[in-house]
Amino acid sequence: MTNTDKDRVVIFDTTLRDGEQSPGATMTHDEKLEIAGLLDEMGVDIIEAGFPIASEGDFRAVTEIAQNANNSVICGLARANFKDIDRCWEAVKHAEKPRIHTFIGTSPLHRAIPNLNQDEMADRIHETVSHARDLCDNVQWSPMDATRTEWDYLCRVVEIAIKAGATTINIPDTVGYTAPVESADLIRNLIETVPGADEVIFATHCHNDLGMATANALGAVAGGARQIECTINGLGERAGNTALEEVVMAMKVRGDIMPWKTGIDTTKLMHLSRRVSTVSGFQVQPNKAIVGKNAFAHESGIHQDGMLKNAETFEIMRPEDVGLTETNLVMGKHSGRAALRAKLKDLGYELADNQLNDVFVRFKELADRKKEVYDDDLIALVSTGADEE
Ligand code: KIV
Ligand code: ZN
Repeated sequence: MTNTDKDRVVIFDTTLRDGEQSPGATMTHDEKLEIAGLLDEMGVDIIEAGFPIASEGDFRAVTEIAQNANNSVICGLARANFKDIDRCWEAVKHAEKPRIHTFIGTSPLHRAIPNLNQDEMADRIHETVSHARDLCDNVQWSPMDATRTEWDYLCRVVEIAIKAGATTINIPDTVGYTAPVESADLIRNLIETVPGADEVIFATHCHNDLGMATANALGAVAGGARQIECTINGLGERAGNTALEEVVMAMKVRGDIMPWKTGIDTTKLMHLSRRVSTVSGFQVQPNKAIVGKNAFAHESGIHQDGMLKNAETFEIMRPEDVGLTETNLVMGKHSGRAALRAKLKDLGYELADNQLNDVFVRFKELADRKKEVYDDDLIALVSTGADEE
């Protein structure tokens, strides 16, 4: 796959591989198949379905996801050895569009683990990428911990992987160490320096240890990356991975300065977020961007009043764009009369001004005692007032 459309960013979802690696996030076989189906339907270009050598269960899940995929490329992960790569191919080969993703840690700390010197590791990369390419014409290669790998060595191994047949070069920020400007420069410099770089797609794979995964991924795209690796809800090891919903909506909302397109149907984001949260057991924090419970909720009187007059006053995207039916006006002690009137209207009550004033006084008394006033509380307030008259 080469960059034919320079503004198209490929979305590579790794919820089922890197996301599922999160301690405690294990999903059942059927849950993995369901999530893969939803990702495919939403327009994810590539689904990293698992790590086939890791377990029988992973192998079976990747195989079945590959058999059932309609549109997405199905990718499996493999370490840099023939056994992993063969096992990965056995699982992904059932897909109409299969991909093998093979990786090795290239930073000094990671080279020390298999105890390979630079030359030995370079040979290993050449052999394993060539082997993967003999099996599959869509091969992704990753130098794990790329952002802490010496610049000259990184250029050298990326060039070897391209020559051996890799079609996508992924540059992982494995420990969430990089910063947005650096991330952009790294990709730009690699594309300018490494021979053959314009023949492949560069990908960005960021972790969120410093809370910069989304910014780093978008920085990398500014530098020329055209594949973002991400997960639903930012699920992933430690502080997680780049959140799919954040990068996709950032590009959609700020297309003026980030003129890059994806193939994602964003109206399916909220449903996917909720399903991933349920099956992984990882709750989404209420103030999480895009998919948090409060992302489209307004409580303060000034905000609610503004929202009722013109939603753009306090919202930069429409709830419908991410699959919510409407903005949520949360009724609490900061809410004003206009919001109360609108909420009661939604509940089927159109009150005269004097009735509204009465309910408003009692609503404020209640809101002082309760964090949130629910629809049933409001109905009770209106009914009590009506009974007394
Ligand atoms: O974070 C990482 O480096 C990875 C690789 C396997 C791509 O997940
Ligand atoms: Zn990762």
